[in-house]
Amino acid sequence: MMKTNQTQSKLPNVGTTIFTTMSGLANQHNAINLSQGFPGFSISEELIALVSKYMTQGKNQYAPMAGVQELREEISALQREFYAADYSPNSEITITAGATQGIYTTISALVHPGDEVIMFSPAYDCYGPAVEVNGGKSVFIELNSEDYSIPWEEVRNSITEKTKMILVNSPHNPTGAVWTAEDLEKLEELVAGTGIIVLSDEVYAHIIYDGVKHVSVASSQKLREQSVIVHSFGKTFHATGWKMGYVLAPEYLMTEFRKVHQYLVFSVNTPVQYALAEYIQNRNNIHELSGFYQEKRDYFLDLIKESRFEFTPASGSYFQLLSYKNITDENDVELAKKWTIEKGIASVPISVFYPKLTDNKVLRFCFAKENDVLEKAAEILCKI
Ligand SMILES: Cc1ncc(COP(=O)(O)O)c(C=O)c1O
Repeated sequence: MMKTNQTQSKLPNVGTTIFTTMSGLANQHNAINLSQGFPGFSISEELIALVSKYMTQGKNQYAPMAGVQELREEISALQREFYAADYSPNSEITITAGATQGIYTTISALVHPGDEVIMFSPAYDCYGPAVEVNGGKSVFIELNSEDYSIPWEEVRNSITEKTKMILVNSPHNPTGAVWTAEDLEKLEELVAGTGIIVLSDEVYAHIIYDGVKHVSVASSQKLREQSVIVHSFGKTFHATGWKMGYVLAPEYLMTEFRKVHQYLVFSVNTPVQYALAEYIQNRNNIHELSGFYQEKRDYFLDLIKESRFEFTPASGSYFQLLSYKNITDENDVELAKKWTIEKGIASVPISVFYPKLTDNKVLRFCFAKENDVLEKAAEILCKI
């Protein structure tokens, strides 16, 4: 058939993501796959039984647009307990189809054509396209390469009259870095009185190590008043395939968020919401997560301590960066592909998270896997 109209792409630079590429290569070559960020273990039996219970009870029709009331009330209580933050279940909390939908909806509701959104690279890959498809401009600032901290002076210098939003993420994917109380103060000071909205991606809030407390934007009363915070149940309960998350925002921002949310998805999976509401009543189901993953991190790092890779243990998230600069100076994308094919281990090259493809000779490995998988991975890494 003749094409009469050439489609003009709204996202001309978006192609297949590196996660799809690396996982495809891993499958094709039967490699150990530490590339994609999903847990390699099953969901709690109790949670599965709860979903089943609510399905059998007939909770199978549309949930209220903002989410099941019981779940919003539990989330509100959680925010109070964890961060001394008050969010109204009725007007300041919305349940979403994962964090990705929360992030997209926030940007779509609040960023106008020509607005600038400051974000930090390496950056999780859904941020930039969400800004650009809505006519905004992504302004990337590179994190300090030695410890992936935020260069706050550069942030200050990058703010213009067009800056609409600053997008932050702690614990951070792909680096595993976490914010300190000082970071929060710096952000608070920078945006005070500016009307700039903070979008805080906190999907790894409950995966944080060495006794450090998660620094949430919610814990600052001032910041909270101009911030949207995004969480994911997928990360917290090994259920990334359920695509469940939630968004917190003061009422004036949440009102705008919901205007888009109701026409994008209207509402999300009903029985899963009821199940989560009951499951998180037992706070241990959340509190035990950091210890569980810290054991994984330590196990993996102990297995590779004699290898030629250099690393700083991840402070949060389930990703560990390994520097291979002592081994070779090959390009990270080429090397990640080569090691998948030739050595049988798949990882993610960090340069793909930079708009300029900055190559610091670092690969990301996901350690949310069973110990036997980590052992096989470590055996390969120690031989490289
Ligand atoms: C930093 C970050 N934000 C958001 C997401 C997306 O979360 P969800 O699967 O709930 O959409 C991920 C998933 O990997 C992530 O790592």
